[in-house]
Amino acid sequence: LISVGITGTGSCLPEKELTNFDLEKMVDTSDEWIVARTGISKRRISDDRTATSDLATEAARNAMKEASLVAEEIDLIIVATVTPDHGFPSTACIVQKNLGASKAVAFDIEAACSGFIYGLTIGEQFIKTGLYKNILVIGAETLSKIVDWKDRNTCVLFGDGAGAVVLQPVKEGYGILASSLGSDGASGDYLTQPAGGSRIPTTMDTVQNNLHYVKMDGSEVFKFAVRIMVKSALETIEKSCLTLEEVDYVIPHQANIRIIEAAAKKLKLTMNKVHVNLDKYGNMSAASVPVALDEAVKEGKIKDGQIITLVAFGGGLTWGSSVIRW
Ligand code: ACO
Repeated sequence: LISVGITGTGSCLPEKELTNFDLEKMVDTSDEWIVARTGISKRRISDDRTATSDLATEAARNAMKEASLVAEEIDLIIVATVTPDHGFPSTACIVQKNLGASKAVAFDIEAACSGFIYGLTIGEQFIKTGLYKNILVIGAETLSKIVDWKDRNTCVLFGDGAGAVVLQPVKEGYGILASSLGSDGASGDYLTQPAGGSRIPTTMDTVQNNLHYVKMDGSEVFKFAVRIMVKSALETIEKSCLTLEEVDYVIPHQANIRIIEAAAKKLKLTMNKVHVNLDKYGNMSAASVPVALDEAVKEGKIKDGQIITLVAFGGGLTWGSSVIRW
């Protein structure tokens, strides 16, 4: 089987920053509460004219530049998102059009905050088996558009952004060494966007009752997140025939600093081995891991040959992790 690795990373963040102090003017909250309970200080918010595909396209262009890949060479575009431009066409098809990637197959996947790792694992299979050579995997969100800006329980947590990677065949022994994915649909009610689908179609009532916004049982998600990040990371490290000590750097989903610190503590990992950028961007769902990865690469935190672990959890409930030799 062919080895598959990440040969380019890119991201795109909207310019507008919304700080905790701005939020103090919108809901009954404080910078002190948000920083202490989440670690988040600010987040990026897209303007009215910007959709998820716009951020996704820009992130993809940046990743393609790094991998010296031109649009005509792309075989497959996978976009992971819970905030697609439309029900259909898929956001991936819109990205295909924007890039002019006329030969590509394009589709979206939805695994909430785990979506990027799901997409990475799907893309990997197509290259491993020899079907495709050049794949774009993108995690992109405009969560600001589905957040209730009057609900302090959720609106302080999320932000907008997109991250992308190019997946290609690499030298044997490099690239993705192992991945694990998991789902627990029985616990799906902890994180939902209730209306707008076939269960509760959009009506005046659903709009008036705020049923199109993110609903979350924060403390249940918190407990699940810590437990599953530890379990998933350990499982994938073992699958790749490595030990935790051999892992150089961890890129976790960026939901809450207390979740990351609790998981790191259980794994006996020091925080200098763990990438954190949620203070600047909040939780960008499927975009969090690829944006953090791109940032870590650009900051020189990940060097050739090093072992990195990506790990995420999210709505569904879903989770996933990948161990990569860079
Ligand atoms: N400002 C001030 N007070 C607040 C705020 C706020 N922004 N938000 C909630 N509170 C209040 C609540 O009303 C509640 O008050 P009450 O006890 O009087 O009812 C209290 O704070 C809750 O406090 P805690 O129980 O200490 O909150 P906790 O430590 O659980 O933190 C948080 C809440 C930050 C939401 C945490 O549970 C969390 O991060 N959970 C995980 C969230 C997550 O990862 N979600 C992923 C979603 S991704 C996706 O799929 C889109």
